[in-house]
Amino acid sequence: MARRALITGITGQDGSYLAEHLLAEGYEVWGLVRGQSNPRVSRVRTLLRDVRLVRGDLLDQGSLISAMEKVQPDEVYNLGAISFVPMSWEQAELTAEVTGMGVLRMLEAIRVCSGVTASRGASAGQIRFYQASSSEMFGQVRETPQTERTPFHPRSPYGVAKAYGHFLTQNYRESYGMFAVSGILFNHESPRRGAEFVTRKVSLGVARIKLGLADELRLGNLEARRDWGFAGDYVRAMHMMLRRDSPEDYVIGTGRTHSVRELVVAAFEAAGLPWERYVVCDESLHRPAEVDLLCADPKKARTQLGWEPEVTFEQLIAMMVESDIRLLSAGEDPHQHSSWP
Ligand code: NAP
Ligand code: GDD
Repeated sequence: MARRALITGITGQDGSYLAEHLLAEGYEVWGLVRGQSNPRVSRVRTLLRDVRLVRGDLLDQGSLISAMEKVQPDEVYNLGAISFVPMSWEQAELTAEVTGMGVLRMLEAIRVCSGVTASRGASAGQIRFYQASSSEMFGQVRETPQTERTPFHPRSPYGVAKAYGHFLTQNYRESYGMFAVSGILFNHESPRRGAEFVTRKVSLGVARIKLGLADELRLGNLEARRDWGFAGDYVRAMHMMLRRDSPEDYVIGTGRTHSVRELVVAAFEAAGLPWERYVVCDESLHRPAEVDLLCADPKKARTQLGWEPEVTFEQLIAMMVESDIRLLSAGEDPHQHSSWP
């Protein structure tokens, strides 16, 4: 029998790559979709024809229990979240509910459906749970590079909500013996990245300028540093964590850090354009509290999981710029549904 996986956040960047990876590994893959008429569901149906869909929402406990009962998964990947950091200041309560409390609702759905209680722990063939934790939890970093033991100091309501989900996942593992793990993933990008995130905003901006559709690109803080990798590499690590004998948390990143300015230089270079002529610094795009520097120490993942990223920063940026030039040349505009500048 094929193993069965349930993915929340199937309409997002990681959901699509993870579904493709698990299908290739022979899994039966189910995706949780929300809303009465969600326009992103048609993208999933086109891109991921073999994924089955089940309705549910991280805000609705009953719907998650029903989805769990219907799918009867072996593995659950909780990727659903409000994931754009600036939105978490504008809608902090909603972020807490979806990104934070949503983790509690998922863990409870698994606990209830598995008949696990304080006196009756999880059994051998139990459902395995992956939580999408984030390097945003490190925030104002206490040390560099960041490891599984680095303390958290989140700098946004999003980071705080992720820290809640992270500790709760650990707590359900310790309280009930559940196979529940968190991957602390650093920034990962791809041609499928949402248009509001900086790498995609830059690759789309460069493509527009290259094709004569725009003459400037407005950005915020160019000095912030991130550890950027390729999403396709990172979903392999999620799967590896759930296939281990024992549940443990892992940092996933490349171990290399670049500034937003370096990202901009690489992207304009990939299109043969001088960046200084086009980039405009816009104070209104700065954040109320910034995460200045993120850099992973992925040693534990390398030694215990055998995980290595395959795509370099330079390859990733070139891949995104080339993809967006092709997309815009074909008349598509991935930014059309975004309300973010
Ligand atoms: P993404 O593209 O923004 O996708 C977010 C997903 O969450 C979408 O499928 C969205 O579905 C779903 N969602 C939002 N609200 C929901 C709700 N109330 N109920 C159910 N689903 C809901 O994010 P991503 O980049 O793929 O990231 C996946 C996960 O990893 C997220 O939890 C993110 O916070 C975390 N993470 C990402 C990174 C990164 O660099 N990408 C790094 C660390 C951690 P709709 O289409 O219905 O809105
Ligand atoms: N989005 C955006 N837009 N960011 C900008 C801009 C701009 O115009 N100009 C500069 N930046 C800077 C931000 O201030 C931040 O320091 C950096 O670019 C990266 O921003 P994002 O791409 O929006 O990502 P993030 O680091 O805030 O969050 C992403 O990574 C986290 C993991 O560290 C998201 O995917 C989160 O969901 C994820 O948890």
